[in-house]
Amino acid sequence: MKNPTKHLKRLTAVGAVALAAFSLSPAAASALPSGNPAGDGEPGTTIVGGTRAEQGEFPFMVRLSMGCGGALLEKDIVLTAAHCVDGSGSDTSITATGGVVDLEDPAAVTAKSTEVLQAPGYDGQGKDWALIKLDKALDQPTLPIAKDDAYNEGDFTIAGWGADQEGGDQQRYLLKAEVPFVDDATCKSAYPDLVEGEELCAGKLDTGGVDSCQGDSGGPMFRKDDAGEWVQVGIVSWGDGCARPGKPGVYTEVSTFAADIEDAAAQLGG
Ligand code: ARG
Repeated sequence: MKNPTKHLKRLTAVGAVALAAFSLSPAAASALPSGNPAGDGEPGTTIVGGTRAEQGEFPFMVRLSMGCGGALLEKDIVLTAAHCVDGSGSDTSITATGGVVDLEDPAAVTAKSTEVLQAPGYDGQGKDWALIKLDKALDQPTLPIAKDDAYNEGDFTIAGWGADQEGGDQQRYLLKAEVPFVDDATCKSAYPDLVEGEELCAGKLDTGGVDSCQGDSGGPMFRKDDAGEWVQVGIVSWGDGCARPGKPGVYTEVSTFAADIEDAAAQLGG
């Protein structure tokens, strides 16, 4: 599940260098900043092209121990990417860390996974969402998901502890950036096998320079709704490298799966 067939197909088409560039795999756990506390990058150069988030700015953000991001859908359920998990079922291997921007802050709150629910039918093409049930509630605000496509436009916020550049280190401090919506037709010309309706693109098409990157996967892409509250419209999924001009980030289109996600959360007792 961590090595979707889509990307294996691309290996033959575009070569081994692009396998790494297109990889859906979460950052290796060994790349987490615990052994590398200085891995916080230059100020102003991170998620790619982002800046540090303020403590409490995105309180629904969690870091997952396999090297992915996520968002609290419920206080004890994390929404992340399907490619970050190994299928569905009982799973006590994942630690979720929340409540902090600095992963080494002693005020961090953590919980362990009890169960994982990967999107039914996930095969590496689209449907890149999964839920992780936690063994206890993290006492933090949750992030509501978009129920229809009304918010699939405009500028979005992305945040994560992933690499600050293609091939870069995982981050100790949460980084954030803003990326504009890219319409399906334009995105399809960059990525012919984009799954329209299941995937949503965002990025600075002309210049590049701002993007999510390896280790941000599973984390939310979000914006303000009409009431001025954060709403999640995407899940960091994949891209060709990071922040390349003409190569936007690809995000799971949350509104498409909103009903499925809510049903799945109910199954997990959310
Ligand atoms: N698949 C990557 C991960 O597992 C995320 C890549 C996002 N890439 C991008 N160019 N936006 O962390």
